[in-house]
This record gives sequence, C-alpha cells and structure tokens, in this order.
Amino acid sequence: MKNKVEKHYVCDSCGYESKKWFAKCPSCNSLDSVVEFNINTASKKSQKNSSEESSISYIEDSFVVPEKISTSIKELNKTLKGGLVQGGVYLLSGEPGIGKSTLVSQLSSGFDDFCLYVSGEESKEQVIQRFKRLEINNKNIGLMFENDVENIMYSVERYKSKPKVIFIDSIQTLKSDNFDSISGSVTQIKECSKKLTEFAKKNNITVFLIGHVNKEGSIAGPKLLEHVVDCVMHFEIEKSSGLRMLRIIKNRFGPTDEIILFEMKEKGIFPVENITEYFISDYSNEPGNVLSVVKEGSKLIPIEIQALVGKPVYSTSRLITTGIPNDRAVMICAVMSKKLKIVFEAKDIFLNTSGGFKTNDSSIDLAIALAIFSSFLDKPFPNAAIGFGEIGLDGKIRNTSLIEKRIELSEKIGIKNIIVPEKVKYKSNQLIKISNITDLINYFRG
Ligand code: TYD
Ligand code: MG
Repeated sequence: MKNKVEKHYVCDSCGYESKKWFAKCPSCNSLDSVVEFNINTASKKSQKNSSEESSISYIEDSFVVPEKISTSIKELNKTLKGGLVQGGVYLLSGEPGIGKSTLVSQLSSGFDDFCLYVSGEESKEQVIQRFKRLEINNKNIGLMFENDVENIMYSVERYKSKPKVIFIDSIQTLKSDNFDSISGSVTQIKECSKKLTEFAKKNNITVFLIGHVNKEGSIAGPKLLEHVVDCVMHFEIEKSSGLRMLRIIKNRFGPTDEIILFEMKEKGIFPVENITEYFISDYSNEPGNVLSVVKEGSKLIPIEIQALVGKPVYSTSRLITTGIPNDRAVMICAVMSKKLKIVFEAKDIFLNTSGGFKTNDSSIDLAIALAIFSSFLDKPFPNAAIGFGEIGLDGKIRNTSLIEKRIELSEKIGIKNIIVPEKVKYKSNQLIKISNITDLINYFRG
C-alpha cells in the first residue's frame, strides 16, 4: 500500500484539529498555538482493514456492578468506593516533582495479581532506586521500559500473564507510529491515550496514566485527556504546608470533588491521618484569628482563617489573599464597608487560610468577615471562635449546607463560641446567632 501523508493542523492549547492552517484557534482563540503534523493515511487504512467487528451490548450490562480492585491505600479505596474499576482508565495529573511516580509505585505494590509498571521517562536504575527507597519488593510487579505505545500493547498481549493494572509513567513520553510528531505533542497524547483506552476496554485491564501539568496547570496534555479517561485525579501542593492534595475531578464510577490529603515522607507518600486537627493545630486566640469548617467533597475540614488589617504599606491599598478566592474577599469587604460604614477600601487587608488551604466554600464568608473585623478592632474573640454562613450582597448571613454537621464537629473539637446564621434550628448553648453583618459590631461589644 502506498504511504500517503496528509497534513493536519492542531491547536497546542486545546487540541482543536483542522485540515486548514489557522493563525488564531477557532475553538479557544489562542494565537500562535498551531502545530503542523502529518498523518500517515496508509497506516490508518491498514489498521482499519485489520480491525475487528464492533460488539453490541445491552443496557442491562450497565447495571452490573463493575469489579473493583482494592489498592494498598485505604483512603483511596474509600474515596473510590472500593478501589479501581477493572478495565477503567485513570489519569493522575500534577506538576513534576509532586509525587506522582511515588504514589503509583506504592499503588503497584498493593496487588496480589500481576501488574505492570511502564516507565517511559526514567531509567531502570532510577525506577529500581525508588522501589528500594520505598522498600517495595513485590514479585507481582513487572517493569517495562518502553516509549512506543504499539510495542507496549503488543508485548502485553503476548506476555504469559495478563496484568490486572498497567501504570504508564508518563503519557507524555509515549509515541505512536501513526504520527510523525514527537512524544508529548498534542497529537501523540491524544492518539496514545485513545489506543490505551481501547486496549483497556478490550482486554479488561485497568490502565493508570500519569500526566504532567505545568505550574499553571494548563498544559494541553492532561486537559485533553480528561475527556478520554474514566477518572481524573489531580495532585496539587498546598504551598505552605507542603501537603499534597489529591482531588478527584472526574469519576465515571463514583463521586467527584473528593479529596485525600497526603504527606511526603522519607519513605513514601502517606494519607494524613488526623485531618480534623491538622489545619487548626497552630491556632491561638489572637486578634484576626478565627476558625471555620470547609466542605471538600464529603469531608468536613476545620481550618483557621487569619486576617491582618492595617494602614497601607504603599501609596495604594491592597487586598491579598492566600487560599481564599480574591473576588470573594473583595465582595465581603465591599458589603462590610457599605453596611458598617468603615472604609475598608483604604486599608491593606491580608487574608490567609492555614496551610494555604485552597477553598471555594462560601460558608466561610462569615468567618472571613469576623477575622477582618477582629483584626480591624485589634480585639480577640472572648474564646476560640468558629463561624459559618454565607454573606449576601444585602449583608444578611445565609444558611449553608451541612450546618448541623459543621456545628457538631465544632463541639467535638471543643469550641465554645460557634457563630452561625440566625435561622439555624440546631439547639446548643454554644451557638451565637447573627442575622446580618451589622450584628458583628454588637457581637464584639457584647
Ligand atoms: P516523584 O514521585 O518522582 O514526583 P513526580 O513523579 O510527580 O515527578 O517524587 C518527587 C520528589 O519526592 C523527589 O524530589 C523526591 C521526593 N521523595 C520523597 O520525599 N520520599 C520518597 O519516598 C520518594 C520516593 C520521593
Ligand atoms: Mg515521575
């Protein structure tokens, strides 16, 4: 068959593909992101001729609960409702150095059945060194050092035992013969992940892909993959604590938005045991310090919020936040300025969560307002205080989800001052009810 090459153009930011060249991507509007690549149409055709008949399945099949493979990490099994799904495709994304290879090496050690670790970026010595450091000496782990996706699949199909799970470290280092472009390019990532997904489904093998993202978390690779795979887990580092937060951002087999906190230690990466105490252990009752409870997935986590309000250091005032969305803080300050008649815009305001814990949970609005006001007055709370409630633009404090559970948790950790919206029905002597933002003044006077 004649080897015919067709030119295609692809956007390196979002993966948009076209046979026509473009200066600006019609899909994501990126400029200068176009990459040219050649498709070997002959190899595509030959593939087609050799492909098998499509299978037909019945709706009833979808009701069968998929077999789960439990991993060595209990927290992960709990979060994934039993473990990895047999034949599922998983993506673990994160910045280089965050601990992806470490986590995957530990995961590979937990199975009683044969599993395969394919390394495309590290040498045999480096991989063995890591297994030694992690004290993993499991006979069921096979190692393969290969970049060619067709070779990987060919070798696995012919190997004497079928792996239960294949770990690919990393998808950016794989290459398919169908394309001329280099490993890590959008087309290679797309093609290799597509092939591995088909392979996983056809052979009922779980495939676990590692994907790197850059500091902005925006590199095309993993973003493109999110559509292909069944489950996406993203590793983020909490800047000040150094903790690794594993967030399940997509899951065809279970809940999303769940998190697991990990700590990198000398001999591996381990889930944080006592998450309830972790982010509040340094709390002291100083002006500007207040506690709250955030909801991340199904977990409720107590955190500390710190505010520092003062005269501007430079000629213009600033509002600097760590862990809290800046626009949320701006809104809270605007409502406080208007309702309390205090010109917060003329102040420098710094807001932190403990450990730089990133959260979008609006139930901490009240705690943010309390922290700002306490720092502004330079007055600590009468006792350690905790607050939950969303602040509306009208200054009213609104109820939030799981408020009773948040109160119960606050009582459990021994907080005496639990500041909540007025409408809360829960009965407790520790509750201080606030209906709107102007009540803050009465609270601090009282
Ligand atoms: P690694 O898993 O290689 O990161 P990634 O695959 O995401 O690039 O881990 C990177 C860092 O972790 C490296 O600097 C060494 C450190 N590390 C530990 O602290 N403890 C360990 O047990 C291991 C294996 C690595
Ligand atoms: Mg790695």
